[in-house]
Amino acid sequence: MREYGVQHESWGPLAEGGQGFFDDPVLAGIARAHDRSVAQIALRRLIQREIVVIPKSVRPARMAENLDVFDFRLTDDEMTRIAGLDTGRSHIFDHHDPEKVTWLGGVRFDT
Ligand SMILES: NC(=O)c1ccc[n+]([C@@H]2O[C@H](COP(=O)([O-])OP(=O)(O)OC[C@H]3O[C@@H](n4cnc5c(N)ncnc54)[C@H](OP(=O)(O)O)[C@@H]3O)[C@@H](O)[C@H]2O)c1
Repeated sequence: MREYGVQHESWGPLAEGGQGFFDDPVLAGIARAHDRSVAQIALRRLIQREIVVIPKSVRPARMAENLDVFDFRLTDDEMTRIAGLDTGRSHIFDHHDPEKVTWLGGVRFDT
């Protein structure tokens, strides 16, 4: 992506607020170790990977919390533990499901 000047951006940096994201024990443990919230740990991890994040919140306190992620750093071990949560599939959108991909792209197949 760097070669072609493309910036990677997170689709939903907080998993769109669902999927049990905020209850994840690994994220919660790392959050406790840094005295931060799970949301802050998730955003910090993405930022450390140079992925742009635009988290959405309608609550001013959470907006402030989501911005307050530039004065701490996750260790390599913490980054590895979070990477270990990858299930290999998206919880938000199944890119292997032809129906979903067709819907997203607005593609029409005439028969
Ligand atoms: N996902 C998509 O399909 C899509 C499509 C086009 C554009 N976008 C853009 O992508 C960005 C990401 O948006 P998104 O809404 O999809 O996903 P997201 O940012 O991953 O998640 C937003 C959810 O997390 C909650 N939240 C935010 N900060 C929190 C915190 N500190 N603690 C606990 N919960 C928190 C929000 O609830 P509250 O609001 O109640 O705080 C909301 O339910 C937005 O800028 C959006 O406009 C997304």
